Amino acid sequence: MSRKVRVALGDRAYDILVDTGLIQKAGEHIAPLLRRPFAVIVTDENVAATPHLQALRRALAQKNIGCETVILPPGESQKSYAGFERLCEALLALKVERRDHLIALGGGVIGDLVGFAAAVLRRGMDFIQVPTTLLAQVDSSVGGKTAINSRQGKNLIGAFHQPRLVLADVDLLATLPARELRAGYAEVVKYGLLGDADFYAWLERNGAALLAGDAALRIEAVARCCMHKARIVAADEREEGERALLNLGHTFGHALEAETGYSQRLLHGEGVAVGMALAFRLSARLGLCDAALAPRIERHLSASGLPARLTDVEGARSFTPAVLLEHMKQDKKVRDGHLVFILAEAIGQAIQRNDVTPAAVEALLAEQLARSAT
Ligand code: GLY
Repeated sequence: MSRKVRVALGDRAYDILVDTGLIQKAGEHIAPLLRRPFAVIVTDENVAATPHLQALRRALAQKNIGCETVILPPGESQKSYAGFERLCEALLALKVERRDHLIALGGGVIGDLVGFAAAVLRRGMDFIQVPTTLLAQVDSSVGGKTAINSRQGKNLIGAFHQPRLVLADVDLLATLPARELRAGYAEVVKYGLLGDADFYAWLERNGAALLAGDAALRIEAVARCCMHKARIVAADEREEGERALLNLGHTFGHALEAETGYSQRLLHGEGVAVGMALAFRLSARLGLCDAALAPRIERHLSASGLPARLTDVEGARSFTPAVLLEHMKQDKKVRDGHLVFILAEAIGQAIQRNDVTPAAVEALLAEQLARSAT
C-alpha cells in the first residue's frame, strides 16, 4: 500500500513517502538525512493538541534523535514579518546550526513559514515536511515554494527551497475538520482536471469514499497527486512554464479570497473549487472546450460538499465583476500587464493563456453572479 514518489531535482532530489503509520516510523526515515542526531520540530497549537506531535517526538527519540519543539499560534497571521521574526529568533535561541534540519509539522501555513525560515536562516538550512492537511499533502509541502505574506498580497516574500523529505501520513487527516478536508480535496480534483482525465473519472467514482475515510483510496489519491506535482516541478521548478498549470482555478479563487477578506467565509481550497468551475466556463465561452464540462465539474464539487458556483460563496450578492477583476489584476500571475489564465481544452488538458480580455472575464462573472443561488 505504501507509495514512494521521487522529485528528480539532481543533487536536491528527494522522496515523498505516502502511507498510513508513517509518523510512528518517522525516525527511521529521518535519521539517515541528519548530520548530527538533532532536529527542531515547528508546529502550531492546533497540531500540538493532537497526538501527532507526541508521536513524532517519540519516533525521533526511538532513533536517539534529540529534538526541540517550537509551537506557534495557529493561522495565516503567522506568515507575517512579525511571525517570521518570532520564529527565526526562537530557532536561533535554540542554537540551530546550518547543517541541522527543521521539521515542519502542520498545514500550508507551517510548511510555507518553516520552509522560508530554512531558506534564509544561517543562509540556508535543510528542512523536512510532515504535512497534516490534505491540501499540504497534495500541494504545498511538495515543490519548494516557501513564503510569507506582505501587506500588498499573499506569498509575495519567499524563496524556492526544496525540502529533503516529505512524509505524507494519511492517518493524520483523521483529526482534520471535515471542511478543511473537503477544501484540500479541491486541490486533489485540480490534478485530474489539469492533466489526468482518468484520475478525474476515478475521483468521480471514489471521491465520496475517500472523503469518508478510506485509507487505501487516500493513499492512492495523495500519491497520484504527488506524482503529477513531482513531474511538473522536476520539469519546471521555478514556474517558467508548465508549473503555472498548477494554478488552475487560482486566479478566480484568489480574487474571491481577497473579496471575502481571506476569512472563514471562504477557505483557499473552496475558492479554488469555484475558480476551477469558472475556468471551465470561461474556456467554453472562448470556444476552447465543450460547454457540458463545467456543469459536470460543478456537480462533482457540490456532491463533495464544496462550493462550486460563484453564488455558493457567502455574500456573493454584494460582489461585482469590476471589483473581482481588480483583485485579479493584483495577482502574481499578471505578466507584462496581461492576466494569465489557466484554461482547458478538455478535462485533463489545461493550457495557459495570456490573451483573455478583461471584457470576456467581466461578462462571465456578470452572467454567473446573475444565476440564482439555489
Ligand atoms: N501550489 C502551486 C505550486 O506549487 O506551483
